Parts: sequence; C-alpha cells; structure tokens
Amino acid sequence: MKNIAVIGSGTMGNGIAHTFAQHGYTVTLIDIAEEALKKAINTIDKNLTRQVEKGTITEAIKKQTLENIATSSDLKSGVSNVDLVVEAATENIDLKLKIFQDLDAATLPDTILATNTSSISITEIASVTKRADKVIGMHFMNPVPVMKLVEVIRGYNTSNEVTSTIMELSRSLEKIPVEVNDYPGFIANRILMPMINEAIYSLYEGVAGVEEIDSVMKLGMAHPMGPLQLADFIGLDVCLSILNVLHDGFGNPKYAPCPLLVNMVQAGHKGIKSGNGFYAYTPGSKELKVSSRFVRN
Ligand SMILES: NC(=O)c1ccc[n+]([C@@H]2O[C@H](COP(=O)([O-])OP(=O)(O)OC[C@H]3O[C@@H](n4cnc5c(N)ncnc54)[C@H](O)[C@@H]3O)[C@@H](O)[C@H]2O)c1
Repeated sequence: MKNIAVIGSGTMGNGIAHTFAQHGYTVTLIDIAEEALKKAINTIDKNLTRQVEKGTITEAIKKQTLENIATSSDLKSGVSNVDLVVEAATENIDLKLKIFQDLDAATLPDTILATNTSSISITEIASVTKRADKVIGMHFMNPVPVMKLVEVIRGYNTSNEVTSTIMELSRSLEKIPVEVNDYPGFIANRILMPMINEAIYSLYEGVAGVEEIDSVMKLGMAHPMGPLQLADFIGLDVCLSILNVLHDGFGNPKYAPCPLLVNMVQAGHKGIKSGNGFYAYTPGSKELKVSSRFVRN
C-alpha cells in the first residue's frame, strides 16, 4: 500500500489526506470543486504549521507531507493507479452510489474501495460494484489528524483479508482501528446519537437548561464536551439525518428525532456552521454563549 486517493476535500477529506501524507503515503486529493481543493491545501498547511509550532513534527516533515499530496478534479485519472481509495464526499446516498460505480470502473481490479460515511450502509454501497469483497468502511473522526479512532466497518461481503489490510493500514497511521459490523449507525453513531437526542429531549421537556445539561455530562461523566455543544459541533442537520437513518433502519421509535431538533434544522439553526444552535457563535470569539432562544430567566 503506497498510493492513496481521497475523494472529497472538505472537513474530513483534508484531514484524511493530511494523515496519510504525514505517514509517508502518496496521496491524490480529488474534488469536483477547484475552490475546495485550494482551501484544503491551505487548511493542511495551517494545521501542519500548528504541529511544527507545538513541536510534534519537524519543518522537514511538514515539507515532505505537503510534497506527498497532489490534487485533481478528475476522478478517473486521479484513481487509475492507486492501491486504496478513501471516499469522503458529501453524505448523500445517490452521490456515493454513483461515485462507487465510477470507482469500480476506473480503478485497478485489486484496489480497495473504502468510504468514510457516517451512516450509509457499506453493504448497499458495495452492491453497486463488482468487488463487494473489497469495499469497506473506514470511519475517521473529526479532526482526523488528532483523533485516534478509526471505526472499520465490514460490509456483508467484505473479505477477512481486506479487513485485516485496513486494520493494519490504520495502525500505520498511528490510529487505533476497531472492527464493527455493518448495521445502522455502526457503533459510534448508534450510541452517540441517542445520547444527543436524549439531551435535546431533556431540554425540550424543560428538565434543565443548555448549560446545566452539558455541565452534568462534562463534570459527572468526564465528557470533554457536553452533548448539546457536541451536536452543534457535528452539525444539527447531520445529527438529524443520522437519527433518521437509525429510525428507518431499525424501525424502532426509540430513535425518533426530538421535535425540537427537527424544528431547529428547519429554521436553519444548524450549530457552529450556521452561527447558531444550542449556543450562539460569533466569528473570532472563543466564548461559549447559550443561544438567546434557550436563555432561562
Ligand atoms: N464532518 C464530520 O465530523 C464527519 C465525521 C465522520 C465522517 N464524516 C463523513 O465524511 C464524509 C464527508 O463529510 P465532510 O464533513 O468532510 O463534508 P464536507 O461537506 O466538508 O466535504 C464534502 C466534499 O465533497 C466534495 N464532493 C461532492 N461531490 C463530489 C464528487 N462527486 N466527487 C468529488 N468530491 C465531491 C464537495 O465539493 C466537498 O468539498 C461524509 O460521508 C460524512 O458523513 C463526517
């Protein structure tokens, strides 16, 4: 394993490219948007500079990491000669199915096709290819260069050999891979999202305020961030869509998204990305201020 292609250069794609390149892999970062590619390289540069300042890497490693990354807006030529593709494009099932059909046609027969999807079935993605044994979930966490976990998700037909290759590869990135099977939400989101939903229900039912709910989980359970702040960080639209996947996939009402979450997303309050969620975000300010909607008298 030497040559890697990463599809999608957004939040996750740039972190995945950064991590592979820093560990000596040659990376082609591919996006349909030229602007997104430029932004990704800037972000990687900035994040590497921060690592140099902290003393975790040297200037020479920073330089080599940047040299290991090429960009392309053409999927076909970008993936024609790689050992592994990690797809991290927008979370949309039709888009991913199309990308995997294209990847199946454009890559060498032995290329492993991984996806960083948070919630879409690996088995369904694999079903549009002629190599379901070589399709696998490689679920990195945000921010990728920092977070240790890779949730490695075996689709129904993923082979043992491909699974161990990806486990080993994750270790070579100084990550800790954990193997799970392909059911809605895998493990990370199956456990995290109901917790976030329950926190939102507690707010909706007036059991406690935003800061109180987050304080209980931070101080009492040693969570580094409360569930409502974490929901804002992930994106409330993303949380809603994952809860819908759990609800549809299991047909169990316990996963039904809280009506308050549905309302907030419909109102455009999506968390940090829209500047408002459970907290209000002012660009450049680090102060955590409860959104005026939830300030208690
Ligand atoms: N953001 C997170 O915290 C997080 C965590 C784990 C997993 N994920 C998953 O990672 C994936 C990417 O999420 P993100 O937050 O980085 O999204 P993002 O919106 O930041 O980036 C997605 C990128 O994909 C590009 N793209 C869209 N269609 C494409 C195509 N056909 N070919 C190439 N590029 C294309 C877009 O231009 C954009 O730059 C999703 O599947 C998401 O569920 C996200």
